[in-house]
Amino acid sequence: MNFKGKDIISIKDFSKKEINYILDYSKKMLDYARGEKYSDLLKGKLLSSLFFEPSTRTRLSFESAVNRLGGRVIGFADPAATSQKKGESLADTIRMADSYSDVIVVRHPQEGAARLAAEFADAPVLNAGDGAGRHPTQCLLDLFTIYTEKKRISKNKVVLLGDLKYGRTVHSLAYALSLYGAELTFVSPESLKMPKEVVQECKELGVEPKHTSSLEKAVKDADVLYVTRIQKERFPDAEEYNRVVGAYRVDVDLLKYAQDNLIIMHPLPRVNEIHPEVDKTPHAIYFKQAFNGVPVRMALLSLVLGVKK
Ligand code: CP
Repeated sequence: MNFKGKDIISIKDFSKKEINYILDYSKKMLDYARGEKYSDLLKGKLLSSLFFEPSTRTRLSFESAVNRLGGRVIGFADPAATSQKKGESLADTIRMADSYSDVIVVRHPQEGAARLAAEFADAPVLNAGDGAGRHPTQCLLDLFTIYTEKKRISKNKVVLLGDLKYGRTVHSLAYALSLYGAELTFVSPESLKMPKEVVQECKELGVEPKHTSSLEKAVKDADVLYVTRIQKERFPDAEEYNRVVGAYRVDVDLLKYAQDNLIIMHPLPRVNEIHPEVDKTPHAIYFKQAFNGVPVRMALLSLVLGVKK
């Protein structure tokens, strides 16, 4: 399977066979991601890390992945400190990064920005989140987490909870889980329901998602509970946000309804949708999930750079 030079813009750019290949390769990166083994697989390679929007996990896990494999990183985390401030276009910024580096990671508040970036770069472009659009590397690490925790992705009963309207991670994940035939239940406030086009994509892949407003009911026979933050920054109207914030909270009382083997995931950051007391329970795997960004991004970078051993 050859990924050399491939842009990673949407999870829909991958077949199930390709996803399986990436997940298996990511497993091989675990020791390197933990720093237990060293490799200079990316020696001499330079990554441009262009973050037009805040990030902790995506940016730092890409940097960790590159540094632990002997590569180097240039870039910015604050576009206000770049010539964007002087009115430079995204296309010109991308052209510059393309001439300075071998691979480009871009996060941007506008949907479609990563695809546009790929049009202006010869180097592979990895979408690190474009507005309310897609976040394919997050999706792959989410799948990797389910795969490593549950030993398979298919047949799991997965509940997606929270901001399903603006949450780009759940859009990608609903599609990808449907590829595997997982059972999906969506729980959200009425105004933050999963967009119709995402539901339609699931149906076209043979999955009929259930919708409910009862989290207790949904969690009863769930294998995976995937929680998302209500994303204040995506709301056009503060009043709409105030109406839904705090609509759902995962706490130890809710876990009384859950199976022993339920895993709770969250792309993070969380605000108050998961009570900190849940962190201590065996259900909480969201920090491990965030760590999984390192092996998965190691695998993706080495594949698109064509340096897989
Ligand atoms: N999950 C995720 O994308 O986190 P960051 O916004 O911190 O990168």
